[in-house]
Amino acid sequence: MKPTTTPVDATLGATITGVDLANLDDAAWRFVEDAFLEYALLIFPGQDLSADEQVAFSNRFGDIEILRENAKSVPISNQKPDGSVLNPDEYRFKTLRGNEGWHLDSTYMPIAAKAGVLTAKVVPSQGGETELADMRAAYEALDDAMKERIQGLSAYHSLYASQAKIGHIVEPGSGYGYHTMGAPLRPLVKTHPITGRKSLCLGRHIYSIPGMADDEAVSLVDELIDFACQPPRTYAHHWTPGDLIIWDNRCVMHRARPYDFSEARVMQATRIAGEASSELAPTVADERAGAFEPATTNR
Ligand code: OGA
Ligand code: MN
Repeated sequence: MKPTTTPVDATLGATITGVDLANLDDAAWRFVEDAFLEYALLIFPGQDLSADEQVAFSNRFGDIEILRENAKSVPISNQKPDGSVLNPDEYRFKTLRGNEGWHLDSTYMPIAAKAGVLTAKVVPSQGGETELADMRAAYEALDDAMKERIQGLSAYHSLYASQAKIGHIVEPGSGYGYHTMGAPLRPLVKTHPITGRKSLCLGRHIYSIPGMADDEAVSLVDELIDFACQPPRTYAHHWTPGDLIIWDNRCVMHRARPYDFSEARVMQATRIAGEASSELAPTVADERAGAFEPATTNR
């Protein structure tokens, strides 16, 4: 098998065929790793990895971020164990709707994710694409005045804030996403630890920027997201069961697209943990973060 790379029609992303991700030898791994750093989004049709195979592939990139206790791979799914689908009033339904806003993974945790991996297991008849946007090209396309305006600015990220925006109050608890030490404060402009390329660190989890009124901060971030997530910087993946995609979460935003929620959509997800040397942010006890915190905590 000879690996073949076909760039997609965007500033990021390439489709790779001719590799077997369940049995990657070292040469094939080096090929994949180089392509990952260059294209920031790789699409592998027809791999249909099992959960264990996907975890092993993901482990090539680094440690796995644990999203649920004892699970290295989790379903991102609206299907319940009995085969029925989630209702709009169910908690997990609201988590899935949250994924439909542009975001980077785990920026509301002290260490943001390095990469995200999805395999499609069940896809709806229409919609349900995953869309990705290139934050390297977005930064590079900003005019000098905007580059200057945002240089040196940082933003607070919170899952409470982003879910509150869609009318969802995150349950109290010490599980995933429960930041007990305050919200991470992340620079709007970051530098990729390997390639050295600058990129924008944005997304729906941002709720304020120190030194700026909150409405001004939110409108600046919305303006940057609107600008960033436009062609040629975006790619929408139309899923076929068995496809696997991996994106570099250090420089690629993503979102799920809506579909008929009475149909099932099941993605097998693994998330690769960021390295502290580049993805760790200070968590700051911002008084506004308190507004999103549940009244009783178990810290
Ligand atoms: C994720 C995510 C989008 C999708 O897995 O982190 O945001 O299309 N998924 O399911
Ligand atoms: Mn996500």
